[in-house]
Amino acid sequence: MDINNEIIGLRNVWVCCGGVPVLEDVSLSVHQHDFLGIIGPNGGGKTTLLKVVLGLVKPDRGEVVVLGGEPVEQRKRIGYVPQHSLFDPDFPISVMDVVLTGRSGKSVFGRYTSHDRELAQGALAMVEMLPFKDRQIGRLSGGERQRVFIARALAAEPEVLLLDEPAAGVDMHIQTEFYELLERLKKEMAIVMISHDITAVSIYVDKIACLNRRLFYHNSKELTSWDIEATYQCPVELIAHGIPHRVLREH
Ligand SMILES: Nc1ncnc2c1ncn2[C@@H]1O[C@H](COP(=O)(O)OP(=O)(O)OP(=O)(O)O)[C@@H](O)[C@H]1O
Ligand SMILES: [Mg+2]
Repeated sequence: MDINNEIIGLRNVWVCCGGVPVLEDVSLSVHQHDFLGIIGPNGGGKTTLLKVVLGLVKPDRGEVVVLGGEPVEQRKRIGYVPQHSLFDPDFPISVMDVVLTGRSGKSVFGRYTSHDRELAQGALAMVEMLPFKDRQIGRLSGGERQRVFIARALAAEPEVLLLDEPAAGVDMHIQTEFYELLERLKKEMAIVMISHDITAVSIYVDKIACLNRRLFYHNSKELTSWDIEATYQCPVELIAHGIPHRVLREH
């Protein structure tokens, strides 16, 4: 694999919280046009891993390179949709304003240009939320709000997209459209998506990693039952709501 084409590189990364290891010796390489899915149990360290890539959590040991530089310095080039995007629902700001904040790292002197507005409108159209652009953010349903946060990340024209359970709470029709959108977007960037939806992950992503403090990753979509059992520490049949893991191989 070409190291020069590497978008995210983690080498032997350790993160401890209160003396307890959350990530143990994690190494991972994400390349341009990769669409990587990360699955794993609650508390397995998935969100922490994304925060390491964003430079929000500093590893105790190991090396992290993002787009050839330090994570903190590259943060503006990364689109991030956090898990359960926290937002005061009463905050008086419109959908369009929320999406425009995605441009704030790129705008000149903190003012939005017509180009920023065009990109924000385009991103809202991609998630089918353009008709809601003047609505106050708090007056949306949970799934609609999640789509707005996805648009916010896309408006930044990211070179890497980090998605922490982006489809949670989004209905099936929009989920399918959204995954198809990601398939198109990966032609221009690298995408890392955390999901508990193993079926969706198995259909849409190109590579899967399992994370439970340690990362189990083979640079492909093929998972062995050993990987899954080691990750979840329970029999394979239990983890996918009855969907046997061979589903992962058939797609
Ligand atoms: N700021 C923090 N201080 C202390 N412990 C933390 C902190 N953030 C996370 N942890 C712990 O680190 C572990 C990994 O958390 P993380 O949020 O990365 O898990 P996750 O895989 O994203 O889980 P989930 O599927 O529930 O979102 C958990 O045990 C959590 O309690
Ligand atoms: Mg999480």
